[in-house]
Amino acid sequence: MSDKFKKIYEESINNPEKFWQEASNDIFWFKKPTKILNKINPPFYKWFEDGVTNTCYNALDIHIDNGNGKRTALIYDSPITGNKSKLTYEELRSKVAKFAGALKEQGANKGDRIIIYMPMIREAVIAMLACARIGAIHSVVFGGFASSELASRIDDSKAKILVTASCGFEPGRTVEYKPLVDEAVKLASHKIDKMILFQRIGHDVKLNSPMEVDWEEITSNAKEVDCVEMSSNEFAYILYTSGTTGTPKGIVRDVGGHIVALKWTMKNIYNMDEGDIWWSASDIGWIVGHSYIVYAPLFKGCTTVLFEGKPVGTPDAGAFWKIISDYKVKSLFTAPTAFRAIKKEDPEGKFFSKYDLSKFESLFLAGERADPDTIKWAENLLKVPVIDHWWQTETSWAISSNCTGIEMMKTKYGSACKAVPGYDVKIIKSDKTLAKPNEMGDIVVKLPLPPGTFPTLWNADERYAKNYMSNYEGYYQTYDAGHIDDDGYIWIMSRTDDIINVAGHRLSTGAIEEVLSEHQSVAECAVLGIADKLKGQLPIGLLVLKAGVEKDNDTISKECIKMVRDKIGPVAAFKVAIVIKRLPKTRSGKILRGTIRKIADKEEFKMPPTIDDPAILDEIKEDLIKNNILKTFKN
Ligand code: COA
Ligand code: AMP
Repeated sequence: MSDKFKKIYEESINNPEKFWQEASNDIFWFKKPTKILNKINPPFYKWFEDGVTNTCYNALDIHIDNGNGKRTALIYDSPITGNKSKLTYEELRSKVAKFAGALKEQGANKGDRIIIYMPMIREAVIAMLACARIGAIHSVVFGGFASSELASRIDDSKAKILVTASCGFEPGRTVEYKPLVDEAVKLASHKIDKMILFQRIGHDVKLNSPMEVDWEEITSNAKEVDCVEMSSNEFAYILYTSGTTGTPKGIVRDVGGHIVALKWTMKNIYNMDEGDIWWSASDIGWIVGHSYIVYAPLFKGCTTVLFEGKPVGTPDAGAFWKIISDYKVKSLFTAPTAFRAIKKEDPEGKFFSKYDLSKFESLFLAGERADPDTIKWAENLLKVPVIDHWWQTETSWAISSNCTGIEMMKTKYGSACKAVPGYDVKIIKSDKTLAKPNEMGDIVVKLPLPPGTFPTLWNADERYAKNYMSNYEGYYQTYDAGHIDDDGYIWIMSRTDDIINVAGHRLSTGAIEEVLSEHQSVAECAVLGIADKLKGQLPIGLLVLKAGVEKDNDTISKECIKMVRDKIGPVAAFKVAIVIKRLPKTRSGKILRGTIRKIADKEEFKMPPTIDDPAILDEIKEDLIKNNILKTFKN
């Protein structure tokens, strides 16, 4: 560790209040905080308790106040529709302030929850910022989720308003949002007051009742409204994520810490300055989209790119290079799977050679493990640093990274670099003692977590404390396992719960199992994430049928696959469900999912000492081979 980074890191750990107070001077406050950290009620901590600010003010107004209103705030590029446009900070603020006014006229007030279920269009960003402007709490739901997932979020958040669009576009198909939303509204026990729908050009849909209103109609004559004052610990948003059970968890973000931390990261982690062009190729429905398509780049006064397309197929494997070249992007942040997709289609980088990427300085990868092959391939092609960094929805910004704005560190392929200032990362072994360097264990972060991380779960303080903070007292349990080496580099090896990562999308195998169990022929089931060269992991379902079922296995598999698509959504990428005779279990009845996964991934495994019947493992292996699973996934 060289001195500059070491000094800053140690200061953040030894004197967090001073460290974050200094960082907090860089944002706009209606009232500056004097109380920096309240730690009287662990594990509930409050950053900047008496500060008063506003998220939207920090994203937009402040830059206009500072004379930068004519700078481009947002570039929208949609290869999938052929549309492109730019909005300056002034133009974006005006649209946001108007939609904020419209929201108010539709009954939204400070603290109300507003669900945003939209494709990657400008209006999605406008809706998020408009909520922030009036102090409403947004909850963005990813467009690849099905109606029942949307319904569970309506119920849990008790949303007042739902904002949506007529459709989204996936390669080769139009995603009709209205029927999905209608179904969700029907399924939810909580009733929303209003649905606001944005009609995409050429794709108008019919609105059916007075509670369904047209975005354009309610906005065209709406009055622009100003930012409301928000106390630092009021909530900015809820983002639901998969948890250790099938029930999604509402990760909340508080206002003040979020702005301070995210603005700090733009320079220190990503080396971005005001006016630089930044692109995060994710979706606003995920945490990467919240933090790095919308909030952080705007807090910093950068230009952010909103991309409605895919790394391949829209129209080709040169789509990313085109955006970087057209807009002179300085840094790109995406998931490794996007690069694996490009590598698969264009291994020699033929498309790349058509574009001028002379302004491009770095590529950041996160969301899943970045395999060394992909990193090296990207480095070779791009000739810029390729940085793997590790974070979670819970934290909203990186826990470990190469902090390129402080000091560029050397790459160790397969490691997500060192703990970022603010995070005191430790490894705890199964005997609950701290690990020595290179020893494996659960990765934890010493409390308090830095600003911008989750202060609690929506309406679930107890779940927050029990789920994350109780296994290792005084530490946040990340549910990732790995080790820290002699140089302080962190190696993320696996999840310790039922979460899998499919194309950088976080999914719960427990949630998929819940759906499969509802099939009337299924007695029990197990879902595992097994290795996939493109998406990192893919879920497969193993089904044991009830006695006396007469339907054929193939029909049952197809029905199960459809049920998962209908209930969770296409994003689950659930395409394989096979019928087997029985599942291997411990004597106490626990399904040995880890062992089955190792068999499927052709990894070595020890025979679990508590297994009730070892012969079942051979049976499972035969089933996997017979069903072509090993062939399908070990491509
Ligand atoms: N709305 C509706 N459906 C969506 C969707 C959305 N916003 N996003 C994905 N889906 C659908 C896809 O169309 C696909 O449907 P299908 O089964 O009918 O083909 C399904 O969900 C699975 O999507 P995905 O896993 O993304 O696979 P893909 O084959 O469409 O694309 C990649 C593969 C690698 C190109 C794509 O995952 C990608 O671009 N990843 C980039 C990384 C990223 O954005 N990660 C997010 C977190 S950082
Ligand atoms: P999400 O909440 O969707 O951001 O997913 C968080 C999870 O993704 C983490 O807990 C990790 O399991 C995984 N993850 C994110 N970034 C990385 C990384 N750089 N390396 C390995 N795993 C990662």
